[in-house]
This record gives sequence, C-alpha cells and structure tokens, in this order.
Amino acid sequence: YKTSSGFDADFLWGGAISCSQADGGFRDGGKGISTQDLRYLDPAWDHEQVEAKHHGSPFSKAEFDQALQDMDTTYYPNRRGIDFYHTYKQDLALLAEMGMKIFRTSICWARLFPNGDDAQPNPEGIRYYKDLFGECKKHGMKVFATILHYDIPVQLVLKYGGWKNRKTIDFYCRYVEVLFRELGDLVDYWLPFNEINAGRFSPWDGVCLIRDQEPHMDQEIFQCLHHQFLASARVVKMGHELLPGSKIGCMIARFTTYPATCRPEDNMQAILDDQYSNWFYTDVMARGKYPAYMNRYFDKLGIDIRMEPGDEEILQQGTVDFVSFSYYFSQVSTSDQGWEKTSGNLIMANKNPYLETSEWGWQKDPIGLRITLNQLYDRYGLPLFVAENGLGTSDVVEADGTVHDPYRIDYLRGHIQQMKEAVRDGVELLGYTMWGILDIVSCGPLTMDKRYGVVYVDLDNGGKGTGKRIRKDSFYWYKKCIESNGEDL
Ligand code: BG6
Repeated sequence: YKTSSGFDADFLWGGAISCSQADGGFRDGGKGISTQDLRYLDPAWDHEQVEAKHHGSPFSKAEFDQALQDMDTTYYPNRRGIDFYHTYKQDLALLAEMGMKIFRTSICWARLFPNGDDAQPNPEGIRYYKDLFGECKKHGMKVFATILHYDIPVQLVLKYGGWKNRKTIDFYCRYVEVLFRELGDLVDYWLPFNEINAGRFSPWDGVCLIRDQEPHMDQEIFQCLHHQFLASARVVKMGHELLPGSKIGCMIARFTTYPATCRPEDNMQAILDDQYSNWFYTDVMARGKYPAYMNRYFDKLGIDIRMEPGDEEILQQGTVDFVSFSYYFSQVSTSDQGWEKTSGNLIMANKNPYLETSEWGWQKDPIGLRITLNQLYDRYGLPLFVAENGLGTSDVVEADGTVHDPYRIDYLRGHIQQMKEAVRDGVELLGYTMWGILDIVSCGPLTMDKRYGVVYVDLDNGGKGTGKRIRKDSFYWYKKCIESNGEDL
C-alpha cells in the first residue's frame, strides 16, 4: 500500500557506492589487480582539466603501462578508496542509524577471480562478501549488488583483450554463477552492469579499450557492447534458473534529452540523440533485440556487429525484471555547433540556459528526473529503480567539527519531490539509492574533494587525513526523509 507521501510503504530508501571507489585494500585478501586500480591521478591536477580529460577519452597505452609498473606509488586513488574493505562494519552501522533500507555496492570480480580466468574462485573473496552482505542483513538492510562497476581483472585485458573477446563473456558468466550460488540468499536485487552505456562514452571504464590502440574505436566499442549485452542476457537467464524469483535488472546513465528550440530540426535531433545515448541500451536489455533505428547509425559510423548464430535468441531470452539508471543531469540537442558546452556525467553536453550548474559543471535538473521516470515507465511498463543520484561538490569542516551542506539537501529535496510527482503520475518505482552515500573517490576526476556523501570522510586528494567519518547536516535530513517515507522533505 502507499503512504500519504505517495511512495509505497516498503519503498527502498538507500545509498550506493562502488568497490573500486570505496574499498581500498587493493592487494588484500588475495585480490588481483583490476582495471580501475590503474587509473592515475595527475599530481598537478586541476579539476576542470581532469574532468574534461576523462570525458569520452579512454586510458592511453603509456598510462596503462606506467600504472602496471607503479604498484607501490601513491597517485592511484582507487587503490586506497576510503578503506571501506576494512571499515565496512562501522560504516554500515552509521548508515543503519539513518534507517537506510537498502545498500547498493559492487562486487569486485578480481577479489573472487584474481586473474579472471582462474580455475577456482578465491575463498577469501567469497567470505568477504558473505560477511559484508551478512552485516547489511543484521541491520535489516536489503542488498542491491552491482556485479560489474567498471572494474575487471586486468589480466583479462592483457591476455584476452577484455570485452573484445567472446571468452570474457564465459569468464564473466562463471564469476556470476559463483555469486548466484554463494551469495544468492543474501542479495535482493542484482545488476549485471553499471551504466552499460559508459562503454560508448568512457571506453576504458565501460569496455576496457585503450585510447591509442584501436584504429576503429567505434567498431570495437559496439562489438564490446554486444558482448556485454550477451553477458547480461545470459546471467539474467541463469539467475532465473538458479534463483527462482530473483530480481535482475539493467542500468544506464540516463541523460534526459531536450530539443534546444521548437525548430523541427532540433526536435528530430533530440529524438536521435535520445535513441543513441539512452534508448538503444535499455531497448536491447528490456525488449530483447536490437532496435531498427540503430542500423542507420551503425551504417553512418561504419560499424558492423559480428553476431554468431544463437546471439539473437540469447538476447530474447534474457530480458530484465526491472530498469534502473543513474540520473545527474539532462542534455540539450541542437544542430547548432557553436552552442555553449558544459561537462556532465560521462559526457560533455550542450549547456541549458534555464538550469543551474554545479561546481563541477553538471546541470541540476530535478524535473528531468520526473520526465525520465515517466518516459521509461511508459515505454517498458517495468518497475524502475533510481540507482544513482546526488550532488558532487566540496564541503567544509567547521572549527567545531560539523559539516553544513544545505546545497546537498536542496539538491536531494528537489529530486525526491520530483520522484514523488512521478509516483503520483503512476510510475512504479521500487527505490532510490543516493549516490556516494559516504564520501568516496570520484570516478571522473579521481579526487576526494568532489564529495557526494551524507557522511564526510576525512581524506584529501592525496589520500591524507584521519579517515574519520562525520555526519553532515544532510545525514539528519535524509534520516528524516526515510522515517517519514518521503513526506517530510
Ligand atoms: C556514475 C558512476 O557515472 O557517476 C559512478 O556510476 C560515479 O561510479 C558517478 O562516481 C559520479 O561521477 P563522478 O565522476 O562525479 O564521481
């Protein structure tokens, strides 16, 4: 039943992080090196430059080779994260104090299969996730597990070319089978891939392609994506067989798309941009086949997807149970090449003059969330989940040790209000896992000072600090929101 706020009584209020940005302990417990351990923070960083460099530009071969040699140096923030691997008990206790109903994190493939192709899984890796998810259960929290959030064992890239090779699909399915068998009773919602469209916009993160190594980058990206779609469909099918009743979804970085003007040209452009950046991915995973509109796009880019007999059936048989997405900002479509640009999640976008822009150039658009929820529900009729949403910005610790973040409260309030509207519009919404519930290493710039958390973590961009956790004002605000099931905003 619904409470007076409009949300279901069992609406899943939660928070999300990913293993590579939070865990640290990058060589503990028998873990292998993973692709995110290699991402390098330029010591002479400048946030705008680093953000611009990340967007759309995969890792270079020189950076990759250097990182593989630098196993003991410091400029690899993902290797230390916020040490969540060692502090998860205290951290989960804090989140439970807020009344959180669900915790979303990702499982690190290299903790279970250090090289990706190992004959047997690493028992220490399995134990860690049993303990971590068991701890969530002790606090009465459900578990939303991302199976892959940008990090694969680096050996799979070195030996097989990562997602370019169909063998990676088999290695991935073997890894997931272990998860289903070992952790099946602890996980409530499964997500085979974080933001699967990242492969298109941030190829190193999404599909492990190295910038200067691919003469036909577009072709390789979409071939890798084809392999990820197959991997996703195969594990949905396997999950339904091994764990009847399990809930397995898909996720994209969703960019609500607006035409810049009411000119028909801009409207047509918006339809195309929406198809190429958003719909393609959820259409394949929720409808189980490639949409016709992509043929023209593939022809334009000279892309020829190599399919094998049986691939189409696999996609058809592995459609998802729910659709989830991250939502940080919206995009403007125009044929005007001179339009002012701004950065946004994964992409550089045309700037919307009607919206405010965050410190990092991302445009805040709460109504865009309602629009997206309506569009997705209308198209698929499947339950939805807001898997990520939040504001990345710097925070100040006052002399008395408090952190006042009214800007974050405003951001969250605005978006939750629009979710409420969407639910009243009739959208079936399962939950909301706010991104970066604890401050973690940011994904684009790799810095600590782009903070999303309602819990402050005392570490700076160089990894220095006490690591102490401080409840921000937004912590108390979110607690109230959860207690009142979204009534008291
Ligand atoms: C999403 C990712 O793209 O955006 C997260 O799934 C990431 O891993 C989040 O942290 C915010 O991006 P950033 O670059 O500000 O950390």
